[in-house]
Amino acid sequence: MCGIVGYVGEQHPKEILISGLKKLEYRGYDSSGIALKKDDKVQIIKTVGRISNLEEKLKKTDLLDANIGIGHTRWATHGGVTEENAHPHKIGRVTLVHNGIIENAANLKTELEEEGVIFNSNTDTEVAAALIDKYYDDNALFAIKKAISKIKGSYAFGILFDDDDDKLYAVRKDSPLIIGYGKDGNFIASDIAAIVNYTKDYSLLDEGEIAILTKNNIEVFSNGEMIHKKVIHANITAEDSDKCGYEHFMLKEIMEEPKVLDNLFKKYENFSNLPDLLKYKEIHIVACGSAMYAGIIGANLLEEKCNIKCYVECASEYRYKKVIYDRKTLVILISQSGETADTIAAMRKAKEDNIDTLAIVNVETSTIAREADNALFIGAGVEVAVATTKAYILQVAMLALLTIRANQNKEALMEAKKIPALLNKVLGDREIFENVAKEIYQVHDAFFIGRGIDYAMCMEGSLKLKEVSYIHSEAFQAGELKHGTISLIEKGVPVFAIITDKKIMDKTESNVVEVKSRDASIYTITNNNEVPNHGFRYVVPKVSSYFQSLLVVPVLQLIGYYTACYKNLDIDKPRNLAKSVTVE
Ligand code: G6P
Repeated sequence: MCGIVGYVGEQHPKEILISGLKKLEYRGYDSSGIALKKDDKVQIIKTVGRISNLEEKLKKTDLLDANIGIGHTRWATHGGVTEENAHPHKIGRVTLVHNGIIENAANLKTELEEEGVIFNSNTDTEVAAALIDKYYDDNALFAIKKAISKIKGSYAFGILFDDDDDKLYAVRKDSPLIIGYGKDGNFIASDIAAIVNYTKDYSLLDEGEIAILTKNNIEVFSNGEMIHKKVIHANITAEDSDKCGYEHFMLKEIMEEPKVLDNLFKKYENFSNLPDLLKYKEIHIVACGSAMYAGIIGANLLEEKCNIKCYVECASEYRYKKVIYDRKTLVILISQSGETADTIAAMRKAKEDNIDTLAIVNVETSTIAREADNALFIGAGVEVAVATTKAYILQVAMLALLTIRANQNKEALMEAKKIPALLNKVLGDREIFENVAKEIYQVHDAFFIGRGIDYAMCMEGSLKLKEVSYIHSEAFQAGELKHGTISLIEKGVPVFAIITDKKIMDKTESNVVEVKSRDASIYTITNNNEVPNHGFRYVVPKVSSYFQSLLVVPVLQLIGYYTACYKNLDIDKPRNLAKSVTVE
């Protein structure tokens, strides 16, 4: 969600900014732009739509012979998707790009307008540019400090001042920003992936710190004092941000699942290196989107196998509700990016209440990874497709391992070793799932039904289908469907039934028969050959319930993927979605 990249150095910034913006595309965006600066001249070029539109415009423009620049991908919050609202924004002597939301923008805007400032867009961002300009005399650091003291909300800013030589400024609060150290210049970026082609050495900018970058130097200030930043070396390989021959990142990332699962299981083959959840009386699992659905699988396992009471809640609700904590509560935060604004807020709320927090996270340098009391890293590597696949699978696997650790089940730990090969076999059948997609891609609605842990898998399957294929899809507890939603079932509506839990197999099957009687097209995914075939049935290898979802959900991921392929959609960057949801 909104991406920032900036450069000051010996090269012309154009290529660096465009390459960086392309690497940030995965975060989700609807417009983009760059600003170039040479002496006291600033040139801003922006467009709506894809980066390719911006590239086209750049080709037709006489560019400043600059050596400093900032670039931005915008995911609209305040103000529609228009060129005026795209960043960078310039007011007076200040040009900036912004990721985040300025919550008191309306009030600040009124005040500034009364003082004579004329705004050109509907964004909250312009207000920041105006405020910094207002406080700027000849001390940029002072102006930034003063302006951010007036701003409420979240921000990462890359800032240029017309008359401040070749300096690039950066500051952040509650939105990510890093500084990168290059050979012939220095960088700012929303994440290291944006600049990894130029440098792998970077530092995380912490809350409220202000960085001043010149081509040979980076200085960072905290509370007015210059501080020393720890330099991190990124372990990203070229393969991570390459499709490696696959048509889409989403397919590449699904196909990587066996490998990353194998790595995770090997890392924890001696599960004593995992925390023991049995010491808690109650667990709250808090996350957003697929990460929350992974949490629902985990809660099913922890309750079923370890008798630990679990609640799963989406972070955007949890952060504002009255939470009644038991003294022995653990809050588990699950997040691929570790930067999801609501999940961060939920974590901070638990910490303020002195409740233990445990993060299950992919990005090791992220805010959640750094702030949680304890963090477990899933090791998915870079996930580029907006719709998560391999990270979800690893989140579920990590929760399964925590359950196995809690009940000391050595047998299950042995079984884990077989799962990657079994998953490989399932993925090898992808032509079968492509054929399902061919049958359903023109429908308007689809339903997923299951009970218990099968219902948890349905939720993820349904989300995957709707987010990439734009087909309206809902997941229902199989027994609940007849309390309203069954009225939507008519001839040919696809209903995916997930049936893996033997205890309730017959019950779900009865619900399948109910929708079949109303002419729905039934697609059953099960682990049991005895489950009837109503037209389509795929039988995954039967494994214990710790791991069964790891063989079922990839089937649903592939059905979603191929359905979007048949519809010829922008699979890795579905409309309106963002990978890293850094605003509320
Ligand atoms: C976005 C992504 C989802 C992801 C969710 C939570 O909506 O598109 O794929 O599940 O955010 O993200 P997180 O980084 O916290 O796991």
